[in-house]
Amino acid sequence: MFDTMTITKAGGALCGAFLIFLLGKWAAESLYHTGPVLHGSEQVAQAYTIDTGADGGAEEAADEGPDFATLLASADAGAGEKVFGKCKACHKLDGTNGTGPHLDGVVGRAVASVADFGYSDGMKAHGGNWDPEALSAFLENPKGVVAGTKMTFAGLKKPEDRANIIAYLQTLGG
Ligand code: HEC
Repeated sequence: MFDTMTITKAGGALCGAFLIFLLGKWAAESLYHTGPVLHGSEQVAQAYTIDTGADGGAEEAADEGPDFATLLASADAGAGEKVFGKCKACHKLDGTNGTGPHLDGVVGRAVASVADFGYSDGMKAHGGNWDPEALSAFLENPKGVVAGTKMTFAGLKKPEDRANIIAYLQTLGG
């Protein structure tokens, strides 16, 4: 019932429709550009970015701020000396122990290694050295990191405070 001409016409119509669809797509793409726009050699962000929530993961990661090594690199030892005011009641910096072991030279020192100080079992079990990361973790949450520690201190919640105090402690020899 279909002759060759009808089939040819149908095929032609199909190709034509597809061509128009393609042209329409190109036209739309040039009008509504979705990626970053190039102005000269500079990449410029779109004026409006509609937040679809799709990149929420990336935003959460950004909220954590710079990593600790970066913070420490730009830390302020002077500000850290002030933060150390919170530790002074228990820690001395002249090689003698108070309620806590002396902290001069503590950065890089083996954990629980002051010979004449009676550490808790939890602290003795910690192991390793007080590198900046270990110090930061302990100072953020002493009881959480060293179960049963004798150090009754709530912790320094601000990463900047921890970075500054570690920078200050680094300036003191052992
Ligand atoms: C209330 C007293 C107290 C305060 C305040 C305190 N500490 Fe301690 N700290 C201790 C005691 C006690 C120990 C020994 C803990 C143990 O053996 O479990 C200790 C242990 C430590 C250690 C491990 C030392 C080692 O030789 O292994 C570090 C580091 C430390 N404190 C840093 C600090 C810093 C920094 C602050 C201030 C932000 C601070 N502490 C505030 C009492 C205190």
